[in-house]
Parts: sequence; structure tokens; C-alpha cells
Amino acid sequence: MSRSGGAIGWGKVILLGEHAVVYGYPALVGALDRGVTAAALPTPAGGALRLDVPGWQLAVHASTRPDADPPARALAAIADSLGIGRPAVTIVAETQLPPGAGLGSSAALAVACARALAAFASVPASPAVIAEAAGAAERVFHGTPSGIDVAVALAGGLGVFRKASGLRAIATPSLRVLVGPPADATGAGVVPASRSTKEMVDRVADATRGDPDDARLRELGGLTDHGAAALLARDLAKLGAAMDRAHATLSALGVSTVRLDQLCAVARAAGAYGAKLTGGGGGGAVIAVAPADREAAVLAAWRSCGVTGFVAEVNR
Ligand code: PMV
Repeated sequence: MSRSGGAIGWGKVILLGEHAVVYGYPALVGALDRGVTAAALPTPAGGALRLDVPGWQLAVHASTRPDADPPARALAAIADSLGIGRPAVTIVAETQLPPGAGLGSSAALAVACARALAAFASVPASPAVIAEAAGAAERVFHGTPSGIDVAVALAGGLGVFRKASGLRAIATPSLRVLVGPPADATGAGVVPASRSTKEMVDRVADATRGDPDDARLRELGGLTDHGAAALLARDLAKLGAAMDRAHATLSALGVSTVRLDQLCAVARAAGAYGAKLTGGGGGGAVIAVAPADREAAVLAAWRSCGVTGFVAEVNR
């Protein structure tokens, strides 16, 4: 079911290629060493299928009503995809991810829930079955996601994702990535109102007039290729340069913010090889890659901006 044998969905960082991946370009993505775990238990009092995520102060019943909360509709979408009706079950999920930060929290939750429910209902949990169920949940949150978040939440590891061919693992040792989640990631709500991946995807569609041949999208795709080659060669300075360039291009597409630009700038000034926003943008987390002896300085620089970052071991 997973590397640890439990119902888990991994969080992720997109190192390069977000947004361009929606248009068919490759993206370099790695699983964080943390995610969401879930257990499905019979509800003693009976009643409809429910989900409790105490860490996010989230408690919902599955519902297909159009006016229901997205997490309630996402839970129903998972159950319907698995074809299990509405058993009197409570899924309890524990999370190590801030919600809505571009770290794949909703896909990690969806994969963990799908795995827990499939195990409870004795549905054979092939990767395709879980991906389909979690993908149905992600469509509730994000409209037409590329599928990158679900692919890595399911498989873990580090690799290159393409819409057409899915996730291909890269044979490389683990990579230390500094992650700066937004200071306002309080844990309340799965997708904070202040930030919507769908809105950012729409913004890129406006900026590019939906043209997959837009030079900025092509550049982002090319940077993924450069970055992946650099990672394979263990040339982290080159990987960092590609990340810096990608951040500038994402900024030109309108998905950065003054705050994200600032957090990237202070990370570079503190000695990072490179830094960028990760995921949809418009808020959310920044990431950086730095020489080992500069990691503490980068984290201190973020702290002085009010952000408590952490070092993730990607592809552990
Ligand atoms: O869900 P987020 O915010 O991590 O963004 C996922 C990456 C995007 O390329 C922006 C969207 C997608 O569907 O691939």
C-alpha cells in the first residue's frame, strides 16, 4: 500500500515546471518526508460516511450536494469512485502538512483517504484505482488538475511528471530542500480563501491566452529538463540557477507575490543556490536549495521575515 505499510499520502514539492505541466510540459517533483495518514473505522453510532482531520479543524460528512463544502464533496467523490456507497465509517486523518500551501496537502489527504477506505471495504487497491479515486477528489478542489499532486502523493520518490505519461522516477540520492510555508498557514481549512490553485491556473491561461506554445511555458519546460539533468549530475548550483530562472518566469506569468519574491530574495542573499515559489503560487510556500553550511542561514533569514521553515529530505 505504501512504503510504510499504512494508509498514507505523501506531500510534495514541485522543484521545477508547475503551471507548464498543465500544458503538457514536464515537471520535476519530489515527495516530502511527510504527508497525511488515515485510518477508516466503523462509526459506533452508525450514520453516514465522515472524515475528521483534527489538525485542520475539519469534520465533514460525505455529500454530493452542489452547495456542500468541497471536502464533503471530495469525500463523496472518493467513495463513489471506489463504488462502496456510504458505509457507516469515520476516516480519521493525521496531517503533517500545512493546508493550502502548495505542498500537495489536498492530494495527500485524498490518497490517504482512498487507501484507508479501499482497505476497509476490501476493494483491491491497485495504484490505478487509488489514483482514479483521489483524482476525482482533486477535481472537486482544483477543476482540471494535471494529476502531478496525486501521482507523487501515491508513489512518493522523486521524478519527472508529464500529463501524457505520468510520473517517471529518477535514480538519484535524496535531496535536501528548504521549505518555507506561509506564516499564515494556521491549519484551519483545506484551501484557505486567500489562495486558490484554480485561480492561479486561470491566471496563467489568461496570460498565455491558453497557447501551449507560449515562450514562457516553453521556457519553464526547458528549465525542468536542465534542472533534472543538473540533479542527476549532482550539480546543485545549476539546479538552483534553474529554480531562480523559473521563479522569474512564474512571476512574469503573474503567479508570484511581493511576499514570495521577498522570501526568495532573502534565501538567495543568505547563500542559497536558488529559490522559487512551489505549486500554484499566489501565496503558499517557497523552496530553496542551499549548500549544507548555508541551510541554517536561509532558515534564519526566513525567520526574520516571520516564516518558520524546515528542511525536507526529498526522495528519502
Ligand atoms: O496544488 P498546487 O498548488 O501544488 O499546484 C499544482 C501544480 C499546478 O501546476 C499549478 C497545477 C496542476 O494541476 O498541475
